[in-house]
Amino acid sequence: MTQAIVVERDGAVLTLRLNRPEKKNALTRDMYSRLAHALEQADADASVHAVVLCASAQCFTSGNDIADFLQDPPVDLSSPVFCFMRSLMACRKPVVAAVAATAVGIGTTLLLHCDLVYVTADARLRMPFVNLGLSPEFGSSLLLVQRLGQARAAELLLLGEGFSGAQAAAWGLANAALEDGEAVWRAALVAAHRLAALAPAAVQDTKRLMKAPGREQLQRVIEEESWLFIQRLSSPEAMAALSGFINKGSPKTL
Ligand code: COA
Repeated sequence: MTQAIVVERDGAVLTLRLNRPEKKNALTRDMYSRLAHALEQADADASVHAVVLCASAQCFTSGNDIADFLQDPPVDLSSPVFCFMRSLMACRKPVVAAVAATAVGIGTTLLLHCDLVYVTADARLRMPFVNLGLSPEFGSSLLLVQRLGQARAAELLLLGEGFSGAQAAAWGLANAALEDGEAVWRAALVAAHRLAALAPAAVQDTKRLMKAPGREQLQRVIEEESWLFIQRLSSPEAMAALSGFINKGSPKTL
């Protein structure tokens, strides 16, 4: 059976690949659980020094599976999506993201919690939460304002404007914007192997120090965002927008 999350090992580098091409790598509850489990194992396994998160050259991810949102939405902080994001944020090993083509919703949000991010220059990234009757998640309402300033963050979060991989790199949300998926994959792998060759404790201490300032504030914001998101998911506006996508009645969000 095809695995929607492919876990591969190359020396001290663990690769987690989203593999649900028929649904543009939309993330299901099961995929979040598998990702969370793999990240927790990577964190606990001393022989893993770095993690690569990637998908395909055609699509990174179209975000949370919308059918799941309608049928089995997260109801509290123990839901798989929250477990995954907690594992990503808690992972002491550096996480390198390789993003080609499309990253929507949580596919863009999660990049804010990766350590190095490589994108294709023509990638399309977007967080259309307000457009779907939802609200931002996992610290994006804080981190985007901190990293991009109020004006640009408002365009991305309030208006739900999309942006390219080239813009992500120019704004400092990504390390480099490259020509195609193959170049992105190679850059991510090279970076991960460079990290893996360094003293693990030095890398992990440095990562921890870099993430330490503002950690408590970030956690408070994430908790507030999470409960609001759960509430918004059952709002009439969100139900209409999400059902509209599934029933093909409403325009695509990218
Ligand atoms: N959840 C569930 N299914 C999804 C999905 C998602 N997030 N994104 C895409 N799919 C499904 C489509 O329904 C379609 O299924 P079908 O073949 O059974 O009809 C299939 O994946 C291919 O998607 P399609 O829309 O035909 O591909 P595209 O290349 O024309 O467009 C996107 C790609 C990502 C721009 C578009 O699918 C999209 O806007 N998806 C929704 C993204 C979104 O709003 N995510 C945020 C959730 S908070």
